[in-house]
Amino acid sequence: MPLTRRKFAQSALAAGAIAALPSVFSACTESSKAAGTVRSAAVARPKLSPVQDSFPISFPKNFSWGAATAAYQIEGAWNQDGKGESIWDRFVRVPGKIKNGDTGDDACDSYHRWREDIALLRAMNINSYRFSISWPRIQPNASGSPNAAGVDYYSRLVDALLELHIRPIATLYHWDLPQHLEDAGGWPNRDTAGRFADYTEICARAFGDRVSDWVLFNEPLAFTYRGYLEGAHAPGRTSLPDFLHATHVVNLAQGAGFQALKQTLSSARVGTAFSMSPCEPATNSEEDKLAAERAHALINLWFLEPAMKGRYPQGFAFLPATLMGIRAGDFEKMRAPLDFIGINLYYRTIASAIGIVERVSSPQDWLFPVKMSGGDEGPKTDAGWEVWPQAMYDMIMSVTREYHRPQIEITESGCAYNDGPGPDGAIRDARRIEYHRQYLGAVGRAISEGADVRGYHAWSLMDNFEWSEGFSQRFGMAYVDFKTQKRTMKESGRWYGKVAAENGIGGD
Ligand code: FCB
Repeated sequence: MPLTRRKFAQSALAAGAIAALPSVFSACTESSKAAGTVRSAAVARPKLSPVQDSFPISFPKNFSWGAATAAYQIEGAWNQDGKGESIWDRFVRVPGKIKNGDTGDDACDSYHRWREDIALLRAMNINSYRFSISWPRIQPNASGSPNAAGVDYYSRLVDALLELHIRPIATLYHWDLPQHLEDAGGWPNRDTAGRFADYTEICARAFGDRVSDWVLFNEPLAFTYRGYLEGAHAPGRTSLPDFLHATHVVNLAQGAGFQALKQTLSSARVGTAFSMSPCEPATNSEEDKLAAERAHALINLWFLEPAMKGRYPQGFAFLPATLMGIRAGDFEKMRAPLDFIGINLYYRTIASAIGIVERVSSPQDWLFPVKMSGGDEGPKTDAGWEVWPQAMYDMIMSVTREYHRPQIEITESGCAYNDGPGPDGAIRDARRIEYHRQYLGAVGRAISEGADVRGYHAWSLMDNFEWSEGFSQRFGMAYVDFKTQKRTMKESGRWYGKVAAENGIGGD
């Protein structure tokens, strides 16, 4: 996934459906004015003072120390106990789509080894576990009554978590759409929104007596972009109209799912995990500054603004409603006043304008005239992503300003480093410790400046199936030997356990 995401960041096409008109960013401008502060994350800021300065830090009482996973990336058992086929089960079988021909057929075999996963959580003193529910495990054909074995699986998992006082956060959709629904048109088909609401209601009824924290979607921009425009993720389509329709239907589904959850379970605490990245202009030119604002509206606001305010960032206004499939009354339907905003954050984005010559040579660049890339000043992870803790601080503060100090959960942050066991079997992943230490330092600094961050979920509890990268990138705090499925705690896992136990990070 990193590569594809990097590609996304670099793609002019991806960058700016929103960018063509000057009105584009009035939405951010307005809200930042209202907040009486500098505008959003789209403004260059001084670098974070050396992070060491912020240590030691302690976190607020009740801060959640978490880890995150996703069903397709860990469960395996892809066709067992009545589970239906998902778009990922189908996609991994298309030759050339996944590095080394890997599949998630077995992944970490968590469907059978979940007790071992829970033992890891316990050993790391984790008190919040973000996992996802596989839609086709609950509804094999995406309709009708639930598959009892699927419901039992998550029920047992939730019970075991609660016994250990670990808060379950259930993600309803982490990219594994039932293939049945893809056959009927997938996310570009408006009916999918209603089907998502039905599935949400089933989950709320099945688990709502024990699960209060829910994430509707994981990274809506990532799965619509990669799945329907770039084609590097399931279902592998490469169509601009499909992409635009998919984004709108997911926004409708976010509204419908929110309503379904609240109606079934009024006490539910509901959010979405957005893929976020502060956007900095490549230079101080006015064109690049505008490009950065446009990039911000696309990357950070395309799904958040509809939920919180029932509208698209104003820059989208030029897109003919028909291109996105917008109908009268849809804006009201998209509204989902989230109880918390989930931030998945890995790196920053650098944005620059696309010249007129490039624009006229490609209709798509005309529609999306912003170039985006990752930064190049910080060290790189094994996925090639820049380590830039300031990005975490900037993004949290941006959301805090733009949405009037909402509750925030860091639903994901982490790094791929492929360190394996040394001769003594120990996995010394010092760079991962440094990553989390610095990103947590940035979270701590944001909290001390007034942000309401409730928890941090490291991606990931253990090494797992990294989408189109297969098993080639290890994000875990526990090492998984994919031949034997043996899990071994890495040094980072031990370090994280200490931080969680102490609710803070020492000065050493
Ligand atoms: C996030 C995804 C997650 C994982 C990490 C590395 O964007 O939500 O599933 O792939 O990246």
